[in-house]
Amino acid sequence: EKGGHDYFMLKEIAEQPQAIADTLLGRLSDRGEIVLDEVRLTDQDLRDVDKIFIVACGTSYHAGMVAKYAIEHWVRIPCEVELASEFRYRDPILDRSTLVVAISQSGESMDTLMALRHAKEQKARVLAICNTNGSTIPRESDAVLYTHGGPEIAVASTKAFLTQLVACYLIGLHLAQIRGVMYADEVAAVVEKLQRTPDSLRTLLGQMEDVRELARDLKTASTVLFIGRHVGYPVALEGALKLKELAYMHAEGFAAGELKHGPIALIDEGTPVVCVVPSPAGRGVMRDKVVSNIQEVRARGARTIVIAEEGDEDVRAYADHLIPVPATPTLLAPLMTTVPLQILACEIAAARGHDVDQPRNLAKSVTVE
Ligand code: F6R
Repeated sequence: EKGGHDYFMLKEIAEQPQAIADTLLGRLSDRGEIVLDEVRLTDQDLRDVDKIFIVACGTSYHAGMVAKYAIEHWVRIPCEVELASEFRYRDPILDRSTLVVAISQSGESMDTLMALRHAKEQKARVLAICNTNGSTIPRESDAVLYTHGGPEIAVASTKAFLTQLVACYLIGLHLAQIRGVMYADEVAAVVEKLQRTPDSLRTLLGQMEDVRELARDLKTASTVLFIGRHVGYPVALEGALKLKELAYMHAEGFAAGELKHGPIALIDEGTPVVCVVPSPAGRGVMRDKVVSNIQEVRARGARTIVIAEEGDEDVRAYADHLIPVPATPTLLAPLMTTVPLQILACEIAAARGHDVDQPRNLAKSVTVE
């Protein structure tokens, strides 16, 4: 049942290329428009949207953080991301021109469901991104885009996360198109890049032996820090969350630019710091900033584990351990950079003797507050 893998989590990590391909399948109509699954909203409703709130918990929240970068870049309307458990207890400013996007693998997270109801009471439109057909959150939403990841059994979310990213990209492209900010051919060009990611990911998955070795090395670390910028920042948070929940180790993700405002004080001789480096393509400004952050932590004794685009040879000089990932457009990069972090957490947990699929104190679907 685990398809030759030791854990469901490893099986689900391996299924990610297919899960992405399935989520993309049939999304582009003959007219070059993105197709959602259930839409009880008119194009006009979506054109009237002047603000987006994304609400979610845990890993799904990290997908929402990535979505904000893509949606604001493509759609040019303000997009906030908020933890569902916070959103539901405050007084957010919403009306019928607000679109609330609820992201949930299970479709049953109580906090996300309550956030959605809170939004609906104030007449906001609600769109769900969900992996579970017919679950409560999509049932109560005005529109749904299902991630076709297939059932996720391991408690830690992996393929659901990558497919949530794909769903977020599709929604961003859809909104940009119907609002006239992107033309059909521009949308098709991004979709084509998305369609190439399963192959790139298969290649990447075939090169993870080094990461397994690294995991054996890191299993006794007392803390592991993760840094990133832009879409690499939520990836850093996701890498830290995976390590906490599976390996029961202290781990923390930071926006690399925030290091000097406090967290850099944590760096000690040998502290492992996982650095998510943006692509050097384009202006490469962000990439250079992260590289200088890597130099800063290294100067203070950090052991740097660097995830960078293949061919970015210059980072080698600052990497105690380099994990190359296939080149991908900046906004789509989390589809690659997240994967070594999933494997790292899984292998460290296994090396520490933990039940990877069933971490202590956690449930797959959190239906209580
Ligand atoms: C982490 C993890 C959790 C879930 C969170 C939301 O690996 O699995 O953080 O992402 O509980 O669950 P859903 O997406 O089902 O609402």
